[in-house]
Amino acid sequence: MYFIEPRIVYSSSSEKNVKQNRSAAAFLSAGIMRGRFLRYDIFLFKPGFHFVFSARSGIMLSCLFSIKNDAVSCQGIFFCTCRIFVLLVRLTGVARWDAIQQHLSEKMINYSKLMSKKISILDILEKKNCKQSITMLTAYDSIGATLVDEAGIDIILVGDSVAMTMLGHESTNTVTMEEMLHHCRAASRGRTNSLLVGDMPFMSYQVSPTEALHNAGRFIKEAGVDAVKLEGGREVSETVNGIVNAGIPVMGHLGLTPQTVTRLGGYKVQAKTADSAKRLLEDALLLQKAGCFSIVLEMVPAFVAEEVSKKLKIPTIGIGAGVGCDGQVLVFHDILGLFDHFKPKFVKQYANLRPQIVDAIHSYRADVEARSFPAQEHGFDMEEPEKQAFLKNIQDIDEDTR
Ligand code: KIV
Repeated sequence: MYFIEPRIVYSSSSEKNVKQNRSAAAFLSAGIMRGRFLRYDIFLFKPGFHFVFSARSGIMLSCLFSIKNDAVSCQGIFFCTCRIFVLLVRLTGVARWDAIQQHLSEKMINYSKLMSKKISILDILEKKNCKQSITMLTAYDSIGATLVDEAGIDIILVGDSVAMTMLGHESTNTVTMEEMLHHCRAASRGRTNSLLVGDMPFMSYQVSPTEALHNAGRFIKEAGVDAVKLEGGREVSETVNGIVNAGIPVMGHLGLTPQTVTRLGGYKVQAKTADSAKRLLEDALLLQKAGCFSIVLEMVPAFVAEEVSKKLKIPTIGIGAGVGCDGQVLVFHDILGLFDHFKPKFVKQYANLRPQIVDAIHSYRADVEARSFPAQEHGFDMEEPEKQAFLKNIQDIDEDTR
C-alpha cells in the first residue's frame, strides 16, 4: 500500500553536510508498505530524496540511504513514528489531540487490516511449533465476528454456547443445526482473517458417522466455516476420522464437555485423578490420530493440560485449563461482561459493558420521553416552497377523505 504521513526524524548521522538530519524536525514522508514489518519511505525534504527501509516495532529502527553525488551512503537513524509526533503535538498543543489520535488509530487499523492475512489451519499448527500462543474467542453474529477479527484473534468459534449467551436457553443442548448454521453464516459475513470454526450441536454427530459427515458438510457448504468442532474422545474418533477424510478440518473438545454435562455430574473440573487424567491423554492422542488439527481442553487441572499439550503434536486450546495449553479460548459475552447469569472461575472479564449498555438505553428512553430526541440535526429538512405547496395541496383533505 502507499501512504503519506507526518514524521519526526532524529538522525544520529555524523555526516555534517546532511544538515536536515542533524536535529529533530517534522517531515512528510511518502512510501510503500510491504508486509507487516517492512516499509520503504521517500522523504520529502532536500537535498534529494532519501530512500528508507525500516523495521516496524513501535519506535522504528531504520536505515536511511541518501543518494548524493551518485554515491549511496547509509546512515544510522532513529525514526520516532507517529506516536512521538503525537506526543509533541500534544505537548505543544498545536492541534486537537482527539482528532489526531483518531486519525492515527484508524490509520494503524487500516495498515494492520491490509497487511494481515487469512489464518489457515497450517498457521495454527505452526504457532505451536513456534511456541506462539493461539488466540480463540467465540462470536455468534456478523458484528461480533468483525470485532474479534479486527482485534487480530486467530480463531473465531461460533460455539453452541450461543444457546445460552444469545438465545436464552438453559443449556447448550437445545440449539439446533439450523440455528447453528444461521449464526455461522452471520459470523462468516463479519470475519476477514480469523479462522472460523462452527460448533456441531448436540445430536448432530452422535447418531452415526454418516449423519455426522453430512452435517459437518453443511457447516462448510451452507455456512462458510473453515472447520467444525465436536465434543468427545474415543467414542467420536471414528466419526472425526470420517469427517477429516472428507477434507473437513476438525477441532476436538475434551475435559468438561457441556453437551454431556448431566452425565459428568455438572460443571465440574475433569481429569482430577491419575486414572482419569491418563484417560484424557489417551483420548487426546486418539483424536490426534483421527486427524483433529487441535483440541479444546475445558476445565482440567493446569498440570494435566500442560502434560497433554507436551505429548501432542497438535495444539491444545484451554478454557479453565491453565497457561500450559498452546492457546486459550473464552466466550465473547463473558470477557465483555454481557452475560450475567453466572461467571465461571476461569473467566477474566476485560470490560463490564452490561451496565454501560443499560445506561445508554436508559438515556435514550429518557430523551424520547422528554422529547429531547430527535434534535434538529437528526432530522431531514424540506425546502420552504415545497413546504408551502404541500400545505396548500392538503388544504382540501379533511377528516372525511382520510
Ligand atoms: O460453545 C462454546 O463456546 C465452546 C467454548 C467454550 C470452547 O465450546
